[in-house]
Amino acid sequence: MTNDKQQMTNDQYFDKINYLMRSRRSTKPRLLNGKKIEDEIIWQILENANWAPTHCLTQPWRFKVFTQAGLTKLANFQADLYKKQTPEAKFSADKYERMKSNVLKASHVIVICMKRQENEILPEIEEIEAVACSVQNMALTAAAYGLCSFWGSGGVTYTDELKEFLGLGEKDRCLGYLYLGYSDTPAQISKRSPISEKVEWMDKAE
Ligand SMILES: Cc1cc2nc3c(=O)[nH]c(=O)nc-3n(C[C@H](O)[C@H](O)[C@H](O)COP(=O)(O)O)c2cc1C
Repeated sequence: MTNDKQQMTNDQYFDKINYLMRSRRSTKPRLLNGKKIEDEIIWQILENANWAPTHCLTQPWRFKVFTQAGLTKLANFQADLYKKQTPEAKFSADKYERMKSNVLKASHVIVICMKRQENEILPEIEEIEAVACSVQNMALTAAAYGLCSFWGSGGVTYTDELKEFLGLGEKDRCLGYLYLGYSDTPAQISKRSPISEKVEWMDKAE
């Protein structure tokens, strides 16, 4: 039986975890201020990613951590790729600049990758799902440290050129960037329609 003290501890624990999950917000990269996060904290974030659930323990998450000069390399790579791939008539100088500047406003950009199981026995979707769980672990850990995070999957995310730049295998995938940093702008309000609209209880025999 749980004693009162233990019960109180559990209540406090649930208060904290409920608050953490519901208050975590995405902060757009353009709102980050360039301030650096200590690498030790980044390691804590990565360590928690490593404890995500994973079918057959394949642990398919792989991360490429860009920081310092690495951010400039990533920014230049993606802006140059955008320029190369975009017909002149569609090219936007603003977008080109954003592709450079947004990355540089982050402290660290963790590029989220999925390493495909060699024998491909597991359905690929389960490897992707496991990586998504690891990303949520990182986003929640970042929130607990008072950091901003943002999972971005736009721009060059799904290109073969990015795969090559990252040194990924043919069957591996890039699933986006996790931007981490600080911001001077308060987190934006987010909303959800009620969970009751998304749930069906199947509790009848007929
Ligand atoms: C797999 C994935 C990819 C995402 N990619 C983008 C993106 O490319 N651009 C973007 O604005 N937001 C992206 N988001 C973040 C969502 O916009 C954000 O989670 C949503 O607006 C809800 O805001 P909140 O996280 O603060 O509740 C992505 C989220 C997920 C889970």
